Amino acid sequence: MNETKKTFYITTPIYYVNDVPHIGHAYTTIAADISVRYKKLDGYQTFFLTGTDEHGQKVQQAAEKNGVSPKEHVDSLHKRFKDLWVRFDIMNDDFIRTTEDRHKSVVTDILKDLFERGEIYKDTYEGWYCMPCERFWTEKDVPEKLCPECKRSVENISESNYFFKMGNYQDWLIEYIQSNEDFIKPTSRKNEVLGFLKKPLGNLCISRPKERLPWGIPLPFDQDYVTYVWFDALINYISVHGSVNQIKETPYWPASHHLVGKDILTTHAVYWSTMLKAMGLELPKNIFAHGWWTVNGQKMSKSLRNVVEPNLLVDQFGSDVIRYFLMREVPFGQDGDFSHKALIGRINSDLANNLGNLLSRSLNMIKKYCDGKIPASDTTDSSDEKLIAKAKKVVSETFAHLDQLAYNKALTKTWELLDAANLYINDSAPWNLAKSDETKGRLHTVLYNSAETIRIAAILLYPFMPKSAENMLRQIGIETPILELGTQSLQNWGGLEAGTQTNPGPQLFPRIDEKQAAKILVTAEAGDKEPEKKPIEKIESEQVAIDDFFKIDLRIGKIIEAEKVKKSKKLVKLKVDIGIETRQVVAGIAASYEPEQLIGRKIILVANLKPAKLMGIESQGMVLAGSDDDKIVLAGFDQQLEPGTRVK
Ligand code: MSP
Repeated sequence: MNETKKTFYITTPIYYVNDVPHIGHAYTTIAADISVRYKKLDGYQTFFLTGTDEHGQKVQQAAEKNGVSPKEHVDSLHKRFKDLWVRFDIMNDDFIRTTEDRHKSVVTDILKDLFERGEIYKDTYEGWYCMPCERFWTEKDVPEKLCPECKRSVENISESNYFFKMGNYQDWLIEYIQSNEDFIKPTSRKNEVLGFLKKPLGNLCISRPKERLPWGIPLPFDQDYVTYVWFDALINYISVHGSVNQIKETPYWPASHHLVGKDILTTHAVYWSTMLKAMGLELPKNIFAHGWWTVNGQKMSKSLRNVVEPNLLVDQFGSDVIRYFLMREVPFGQDGDFSHKALIGRINSDLANNLGNLLSRSLNMIKKYCDGKIPASDTTDSSDEKLIAKAKKVVSETFAHLDQLAYNKALTKTWELLDAANLYINDSAPWNLAKSDETKGRLHTVLYNSAETIRIAAILLYPFMPKSAENMLRQIGIETPILELGTQSLQNWGGLEAGTQTNPGPQLFPRIDEKQAAKILVTAEAGDKEPEKKPIEKIESEQVAIDDFFKIDLRIGKIIEAEKVKKSKKLVKLKVDIGIETRQVVAGIAASYEPEQLIGRKIILVANLKPAKLMGIESQGMVLAGSDDDKIVLAGFDQQLEPGTRVK
């Protein structure tokens, strides 16, 4: 993918704010981060965008289920993504949320313009609709009346809606895809899109009636409707840069790459392309569809309880190791399988044995034979020349692979260089060269070349493992940040200065021994298993008369403040608004809820309970919740009710 200007703009999909972030989300974001770090290294002016998709039916329903408003719901949930990206050292320039005014105003302007120019029209639609997916289907798509995407029942509805004249652009789009080789990658996915475009392309319904779905951006020309969530979401890629006119001025449009999973290629390649065409904007240079991760051969799903939690992986292995594993294990574009066994295998063979070993043995020998200072290279023989030629080749091939987003091939190249250096050390046997004064010159050359290989490998690895790469350079005595060194520092062999004081540190990637590995695997497997069904308690409590029950005054309360009680694992101190007054309540729910999750949430409060002190703090009521040994779940309502309302 040739870049003419030295600017680079890469995006990830904006993630559904409701979803719990998993390794699939981390995968795309890490890939984008690697590309952007590589381009920065190469002197490009870059922009990296990620964010959250916050409108639509699912968000509205989830908020209702939690007893909070959709706005409160998204304000609290989007942070899970933001926080995860910090943990993975993601260098995004912006994080867009579709509920922000800066996004909504651009969507509104685009809709107005397209409507005024006749690209959007009103019509009555009769057909099949999948509520959870918010998608319309034709009779042919749903022979068994099940949604082709989620396999749930579809409903027959007749509804007036607004449509975008997508079908008008079908021939143009086919021609565009065919004549722009790099537009959709991998090629197999491009062919799938062309296959899809063989059927007549209908127009796209871009509205949803507000009475059915209020949580969306209102259509500027008809306040009874909100914008279809995909039409809204795709615009994030440009709304981050301002109005349509501002996009024409920014150096970042057209985008260099939209990274997407294979499931959302059609929405990008077809909906987004035709929307851009109608807006009079250029298409992105490339849309790259990557594959999906399974876990131990199974689809990741909440019901199978096998969703791999990226925060736990970072806690256990560190972000660089996970970044490396995800990119090394599977060619970008193909499906892959995650297992702790494969992860441990990679840590031990690639990171500890190969990379870590080259670093530690080179530094040990420099310490032992050269007082810890990088020696000067002396005479050069054919084995040195072979290593130098290998390094040159690996550098240019790595860059070529990174340009193609072939991350795993880029890593394979670096490992070819590490292998070559380890072999070079074995064949040269510096420990023998050190035995005689006559071979000191050779000893120095071999040790210099080993350290110089480490310098080159560290810079090549920087986009993938930024922290480890900086650490490797520090250990061989280079303090300059890698981004300042740039790719030009890889142009010539010999960048490492003789006489530099090395600074060996602890093992970069310690080996995971069999005992540790067994422990990790047992814990991981336990996490993946279905929980055992616990016997349900019999109802043995004494019966109460209805009059006695009505003595309990249950009220709806809204949590306005929440903080953990110091020195307690279980208790949270809450301020609860019950309409007429605010109560201070101490609740034993800290094991299952973070204070930030609680703010804005509606709960059921026993309002006439005698106040009691818990850990010295007065509690003026009790919050109702269900609990088993594993978790506590707050009782709530599936629709909104005002604080203070009585529960009977
Ligand atoms: N909100 C839309 C995207 C709008 S972009 C304008 C969406 N969100 S999502 O959260 O459902 O998915 C985001 C991305 O995660 C998609 O690219 C999807 O392919 C990816 N993945 C979801 N599960 C995945 C795996 N198991 N493996 C790899 N990627 C996966 O779609």
